[in-house]
Amino acid sequence: MYLCGMLTVNEIIEQKNFSRENIVTLLNAEGPDGLFLLKRAGEQKLNIVGNKVYLRGLIELSNICEKDCFYCGIRKSNKKINRYNLSDEEVLKAARFAFQEKFGSIVIQSGEVTNEKFVARIEKLIILIKELSEDKLGITLSFGEQSESVYRRWFAAGAHRYLLRIESSNPVLYKKLHPDDGHHTFQQRLAALNLLKEIGYQTGTGVMIGTPGQTIEDLADDLLFFRNFDIDMVGMGPFIEHNDTPFKIPAADSLPLSGRFNLSLKMVAILRLMMPTINIAATTALQAIDPLGREKAVMAGANIIMPNITPGSYRNNYLLYNNKPCTDEEPEQCAGCLDARLALADSEIGYGEWGDSIHFTNGK
Ligand code: 5AD
Ligand code: FES
Repeated sequence: MYLCGMLTVNEIIEQKNFSRENIVTLLNAEGPDGLFLLKRAGEQKLNIVGNKVYLRGLIELSNICEKDCFYCGIRKSNKKINRYNLSDEEVLKAARFAFQEKFGSIVIQSGEVTNEKFVARIEKLIILIKELSEDKLGITLSFGEQSESVYRRWFAAGAHRYLLRIESSNPVLYKKLHPDDGHHTFQQRLAALNLLKEIGYQTGTGVMIGTPGQTIEDLADDLLFFRNFDIDMVGMGPFIEHNDTPFKIPAADSLPLSGRFNLSLKMVAILRLMMPTINIAATTALQAIDPLGREKAVMAGANIIMPNITPGSYRNNYLLYNNKPCTDEEPEQCAGCLDARLALADSEIGYGEWGDSIHFTNGK
């Protein structure tokens, strides 16, 4: 049943009319309409970016963090976790592994640390990884908000992509997700994203889906934000409670995990229809809810997977949320399992390729 004047899911997709109101209709699509949305987005992906999925080997360098986001398991106030810091040799070994396995690119991520020692260390590691891979391994960074000069140093050292999630494009909701201490402002986050773009990074952002207090309209606005910001890459996934955070108990009106999962797939699908040439990640949080979550996201439009190549013994300490998958495996086990999994999703891995966002390389 549709109200007079409102377009159907089918019409919205055929007319490519992604107004706020229409995005809300798509996000609410259930049953056959919902399946149609996922199917059309999958087709759009095959037509525009093809059936290749590109790998970014994820190295979780350290879980030490200066920030205190209410939702995150490695927040500064969580005294229950063992803080670790990989040695340089461990990071280089993981990078070498990614290179040998033809992953094409790595992502180095950690909690937010801003001191000079850390900055210089990352700079050195970027240079060493470029050297060991004869300049071939693409390097994406995910180290949160840093100053302009730091972003520039790391870019000059050889990193060319940066991930910084906006978490929510609604400043009011952003404020509810972060402490009001002057160090977690929406404006700072937006300024950092602008800097990254200006410096020349392929810039990625994203949001969590199903956070306390979030509405469907907020999610529609998030998708419009990605488009208006002309983003190159997006990683987004369901919010999952972590026991040792202030957000450990689901709010009374919060969606069940299955609902957050379905909404996340629809977010991926709608974004693929709105921005056909960008890179969209099938995120690990999806896999935490459904063992085939990443493959389902690939079917609905995602084209990037970030297999965890952090040495196994540390993985249990980088728990951003409950039930994070594959934390007891060694990297060697991941690589083999991915080919089989992706064959299920009618896709193949783009081994040895950077798989840059076409949106970026085509100059938008
Ligand atoms: N559930 C889901 N995603 C989370 N992140 C942090 N905590 C959680 C959580 N509890 C996401 C944030 C962050 C990224 C590295 O992980 O979006 O940007
Ligand atoms: Fe580390 Fe949010 S808790 S950046």
